[in-house]
Amino acid sequence: MNQAEIWNLHMNVPDYVKHQRLIAWVAEVAALTQARDVYWCDGSQEEYDRLCQQLVQKGTFKKLNPELRANSYLACSDPTDVARVEDRTFICSARKEDAGPTNNWTDPAEMRSLLQTCEQALFKGSMRGRTLYVVPFSMGPLGSHIAHIGVELSDSSYVAINMRLMTRMGRAVIDLLGEDHDFVPCVHTVGAPLEAGQADVKWPCNATKYIVQYPETHEIWSYGSGYGGNALLGKKCFALRIASKMGLDQGWLAEHMLILGVTSPAGKKYHFAGAFPSACGKTNFSMLIPPAAFEGWKVTTIGDDIAWIKPGADGRLYAINPEAGYFGVAPGTNNLTNANCMASLHKDVIFTNVALTDDGDVWWEGLTDTPPAHLIDWQGKDWTPAIGKETGAKAAHANARFTVSAGNNPALDADWDDPEGVPIDAFIFGGRRSTTVPLVTEARNWNEGVYMAATMGSETTAAAAGQQGVVRRDPFAMLPFVGYNMSDYFQHWLDMGKKLQALCEKSGAKLPKIYCVNWFRKGSNGKFVWPGYGENMRVLKWMLDRVEGQGHGDDHAFGVTPRYEDINWNGMDFTPAQFETATRIDKADWTAEMGLHAALFEQLAYHLPPELPALKAKMELRLAAE
Ligand code: GTP
Ligand code: SPV
Ligand code: MN
Repeated sequence: MNQAEIWNLHMNVPDYVKHQRLIAWVAEVAALTQARDVYWCDGSQEEYDRLCQQLVQKGTFKKLNPELRANSYLACSDPTDVARVEDRTFICSARKEDAGPTNNWTDPAEMRSLLQTCEQALFKGSMRGRTLYVVPFSMGPLGSHIAHIGVELSDSSYVAINMRLMTRMGRAVIDLLGEDHDFVPCVHTVGAPLEAGQADVKWPCNATKYIVQYPETHEIWSYGSGYGGNALLGKKCFALRIASKMGLDQGWLAEHMLILGVTSPAGKKYHFAGAFPSACGKTNFSMLIPPAAFEGWKVTTIGDDIAWIKPGADGRLYAINPEAGYFGVAPGTNNLTNANCMASLHKDVIFTNVALTDDGDVWWEGLTDTPPAHLIDWQGKDWTPAIGKETGAKAAHANARFTVSAGNNPALDADWDDPEGVPIDAFIFGGRRSTTVPLVTEARNWNEGVYMAATMGSETTAAAAGQQGVVRRDPFAMLPFVGYNMSDYFQHWLDMGKKLQALCEKSGAKLPKIYCVNWFRKGSNGKFVWPGYGENMRVLKWMLDRVEGQGHGDDHAFGVTPRYEDINWNGMDFTPAQFETATRIDKADWTAEMGLHAALFEQLAYHLPPELPALKAKMELRLAAE
């Protein structure tokens, strides 16, 4: 018997699995990683509860007070494993140029050697002493022509159960795979093999981390982290990095976007897709509750993080949310900022890296104005407001998150699961900028919108390891997620515009409008000028008016912006002077900003579409004249 055959004995393949290629691949990975045994997830509630219970016994999970948070758990990670690791993320295309200057690149053969084949290959024996979970999942409604299937092999049951909340996971996907359907193979290990007799830790992981995508062969290999986008491979690795490359090759878009529906009192429904960088407001915006003055208006969630978007024959773009759950930022979430989200967190939630209250509930910064008198912080230490003040220690990690099924969201859109997707009326791009960028700008046309999105800057957040609060260019909010050369991605968007334009001319449909927003401008007091959250409805309404060809806007160097009187201020106290602070275009700031665009274009010179520097030159001329 060869090694693969030996491991076949421990394969535990259920009879309903008929896909020989899948079985062979699982055997191969089990042999490589020397997993103790193999467990095929069926996605049932019974299985979910059982795996959760095992994690409670292991100490990874703390079961929360069932009266306050039914069937919910708290996990606290290793303090070194708390966010995406962009500097350890690799796009391994055959040619370096195809990964582009914004991605880490390693030759695929070299990476395979390092991970799989060389003598010290990281995956060799990496699952020793652990179970290999086979996690079949669909990104998108089962069987949708926009959806794709993946199978993640992971030695973390925390990953398996998170995948059950985040995706359509389990036996139905195996059935759909049949004997020979394609799937994206995703291999994940925490990189912490257990030798005989060795006790496990609560959150196994490895100081060495590799988050590796092979975009040409649609493969994912992730080593050393158990957290979020590093480990739930359907999310960023598949639905963005691999899918963006699929979209390039097949003529569609995979985007870091929320999708929302907005319905007028007369019952007319519109759909917006919005790209904001990590921890910059997608979840909040997708669950927005309009202020009282907007009686009869309703916002509904289709997705909060990722959109897969395909052109229809009518020239419109149709979007699905490939996910089935939310892995959302906890800090800052409360009944005022996001009541829909709070309402979705009463039951069946996995919280990670938030604080624990004395009565078995959770807490995080921003949940209540006054923190509880005593907490156990995310690192398991006693925390009191006094300790927090003295040491600056946060009770919850800044990138603490909840995992919850979309079904829990009271604002879930009736069409969220529609395999055909929803037609997009407008795109919104929004960075986190304390200066320079005004509240809202409309692009005059598709290409100017692409320019806006391509040059978007944003202050870094705790969603990724590294320095926070530094402005960096984050084109389309896709800097960490595009699976190929960024300039080719820009070209893909420009080409898409041309293609849609041609189709629209025949059908009479309109291209989606494109907007740039900034909820995060600060005043001289260092506070946000714009109240944000539900009040963002006022900006959304102006955009809707414009989609309808009605709202007024002033034309300037960068696009079209509303005057004070173009926004509905009913029920909100916001003076023209405050509006001016939120919307002013400062010539000196923008001259500096254009310098940053120039630096970006220099970095992205290879394959940079000439339309972009041409638009820049036009804007600069106009700015100088204003
Ligand atoms: P990822 O899941 O990391 O991709 O992030 P996201 O874009 O879904 O971010 P999310 O909506 O969770 O927002 C993260 C942070 O932004 C939270 O701390 C929010 O409180 C804050 N935030 C969201 N919307 C607004 C807003 O309109 N104004 C202000 N000032 N802050 C906001
Ligand atoms: C992000 O960082 O944009 C997220 C969280 O949505 S994670 O899934 O961890 O990437
Ligand atoms: Mn995200």
